[in-house]
Amino acid sequence: MKKQVILDVDTGTDDAIAIMLAILGKEIDLLGITTVNGNLELALTTDNTLRVVEHCEAGEAVKVYSGCEYPLVSTLSPKSAQSLRPLPKRAGVKMPYAIHGDHLPLPETTLKKQDKNAIVWMIETVMQAEPQSISLVAVGPLSNVATAMRAEPDFAERLREIVIMGGGDRLSNASSAAEFNIWADPEAAEIVLQSGCEVTIIPLDATHDAQISEADLAKIKAIGNKYADFTYDVIMERIDAYADRKADRDAPRSAPVHDALALCYLLHPECITKKADVSCHVDISGGVAYGRTVIDDRQYMETSEPNCTFAYDADKEFFFDWMYNIIARAEES
Ligand code: RIB
Ligand code: CA
Repeated sequence: MKKQVILDVDTGTDDAIAIMLAILGKEIDLLGITTVNGNLELALTTDNTLRVVEHCEAGEAVKVYSGCEYPLVSTLSPKSAQSLRPLPKRAGVKMPYAIHGDHLPLPETTLKKQDKNAIVWMIETVMQAEPQSISLVAVGPLSNVATAMRAEPDFAERLREIVIMGGGDRLSNASSAAEFNIWADPEAAEIVLQSGCEVTIIPLDATHDAQISEADLAKIKAIGNKYADFTYDVIMERIDAYADRKADRDAPRSAPVHDALALCYLLHPECITKKADVSCHVDISGGVAYGRTVIDDRQYMETSEPNCTFAYDADKEFFFDWMYNIIARAEES
C-alpha cells in the first residue's frame, strides 16, 4: 500500500526536484503540499510550488496550502537576530549564481493555492486520518510542523513518521555551525525533536554524499522529455552556484539535491548506507552556533537517550538511478 504523504516545502530548486519526483514517481499518495518561508519569502515558495505542480500536469489533484510567513521567534529578539544572517534573499550579497532564484525556470502558473491555511489543513488531515497512517516529509524550515504540534497536542503522536531534510554533524551551510532549514527556525526544529514523533534526519552529511554531477545531468538530459529538461536546468543552476562555494576550485562540478534525497529515503531507506539512533537537539541559545544540530552520543549519559535517526552516508548511485528512472518513465501530454 502506498504511503500517505504530506510534503512541507520552501520551494527553491531542490524542493522542486523533490516535488516533481513525488508526483511523477507515483510511489506515494501525495495528500497535499504545504509551503513555508525559507529559501525565499512565502509568496515565492508558494508560487514556485504551484509552478512545479502545473509542470507535472497534476493540476487540482495536488493541492497546495501556504503556512508560516516567518519563523516562530528567531527573528524577534535582537540578540538571536544578530546571530541570524539575513535570509539569503535579503542578504544583499549576490553570489554570481544564486542557489535559489526568485522564480523557477517554468512558466507563470495558472493554479491557485488553497484558501485554507496550511497548519489548519495539516491538523485536520492528520487528526481525521487513521492514527499513524500519514508520513510527513519536511524539507524547509520546520515552522509549519512545529506550529501544528503546538496547536494540536496529539498531532505528533498521530503521525506515522517525519523525515526531515536538515541539520549536519560534520557539515554546515547557513552559518559556520548550522544548516539552513534548522538555522532559519531553530526553535521550531527543537519542538519537533522533542515531540516524541518518529523523526529521521537527512542532514548535509548524507546529501553531500549523493551529489549529482554534470555527467549525471548529461544522462538525464538525453532522456529528452520536459521533466529531464527542467531537472537539467535546475540542477545545473545549483552546480554553478556550488562551484562558487567549493574550496577546491578543481573539484568535479556537482551539487547536492538535498530535498530529493529525503523523499528517496522515505520510499527506499536503503539509499542511506549509514545511520544511527541518536540524541539530537538544536542550539537555541542565540550564540555563534545558533541553529546547530548537536548529537550527544555519550552512551553513559541519560542525555544521550535517542530521539531520532540521523543519516550519515548515502548511496549516490542508488539515488541517481531512482531519480533517472522516474524521469525516464514519466509521460508528458
Ligand atoms: O540546507 C539545505 C536545505 O535548505 C534545503 O532544503 C534547501 O532547499 C534549503 O531549504
Ligand atoms: Ca528546501
